[in-house]
Amino acid sequence: MSRILLIVGGGIAAYKAAELIRQFRKEGHEVTPVLTEGGSHFVTPMSLAALAESPVYTSLWDLKDEAEMGHIQLSRAADLVVVAPATADLIARMAAGEANDLATTLLLATDKPVVIAPAMNVRMWQHAATQRNIAQLKADGITVLEPDEGPMACGEYGPGRLPEPADIYQRLEKILPELVSGRGTTAQSDVVEGPLAGKHVLVTAGPTHEPIDPVRVIANRSSGKQGFAIAAAAAQAGARVTLVAGPVSLPTPGGACRVDVETAQQMADAVAEALPADVAILVAAVADWRVKAATSKLKKSDGPPLLKFAPNPDILAMLGERPDRPTLLIGFAAETNDVVANAKGKLASKKADWIVANDVSGDVMGGSHNRIHLVTKDGVEDWPEAAKEDVARHLISRIAEELE
Ligand code: C5P
Repeated sequence: MSRILLIVGGGIAAYKAAELIRQFRKEGHEVTPVLTEGGSHFVTPMSLAALAESPVYTSLWDLKDEAEMGHIQLSRAADLVVVAPATADLIARMAAGEANDLATTLLLATDKPVVIAPAMNVRMWQHAATQRNIAQLKADGITVLEPDEGPMACGEYGPGRLPEPADIYQRLEKILPELVSGRGTTAQSDVVEGPLAGKHVLVTAGPTHEPIDPVRVIANRSSGKQGFAIAAAAAQAGARVTLVAGPVSLPTPGGACRVDVETAQQMADAVAEALPADVAILVAAVADWRVKAATSKLKKSDGPPLLKFAPNPDILAMLGERPDRPTLLIGFAAETNDVVANAKGKLASKKADWIVANDVSGDVMGGSHNRIHLVTKDGVEDWPEAAKEDVARHLISRIAEELE
């Protein structure tokens, strides 16, 4: 059980906070809601109090024991602080370090991990000022759950929607143990040594599974071994490692913070949430296409299904375009022919710094060895065939050299 301080900002999505409280309570967590002045125009303190079975705080003056520093206690009595919805205004005030109402005062006073779920109009979300504030919050160690894309209450379409409460809960559940134990994006007090000490390395690994119906998926033969070996080598080199893993049955490398995902879209979300990173190494074999999954199992008697494919987000290309692009962005290219030529094409089209090209015409996928051609802007290095662990260690030492 965790104790969650839930700050509800003022936006049309505030109504989803009620469902979020219900979800937290169902899973056995304690919730203390804090409603901003704006939030109280969308939901009533009474409904949140009833669902949370806890008093709801709306202003600094609610804290009767303020003389005993009530707001400090309130901000620290929780294991986790969640802001949902986080409006553009609240985000801006957080980024500026303001303390002009109860919510911002608690956010400034807390010593606990903070997760925010932004929700606003698509243009407001994409505005340079909001993106600048989000980058600042991430740099301050706050975890930002990426908003969903879809039709908005204002009639426009795009990113900015508050994810459904069940989805927020699922995403929090994945990061909660790390956050609560202080191993997440929050400041680390342990002194770590190694050539990548102080660096955040983000690795994707394994395949993705794109569901066709509740029991069938489209998958590929990626074992995840190379990506996991790279995450292990980065952790051994002292980096803080986030490993976003598709469905594989491999143990988590020591020291890595693992986020398990299934689909390409989930992988893209998890990667965006893990930013900023100094280095991103995208080793995963991401499905290029997905289909609209049937909600019930397709029947053989109905004949072969006609699958209509839609493109998946290209995570590497997406990182290449972002304002908070990692300093060193590395992609993999699994090819069966024209290995180096194809890798050079990808270096340019995906705006990567390096492409690690490997010939997968043999048993590389699932096998224990790999033969690499490292394609950079300066040329091509041909590495001898080696065990995937050795390839990983060599790649990590090349990265450390580059960052120097
Ligand atoms: O285009 P291709 O799939 O060959 O590119 C391979 C590189 O791009 C790998 O680093 C892979 O992890 C990444 N990729 C991605 N998202 C996709 C497809 C590929 O990040 N949807």
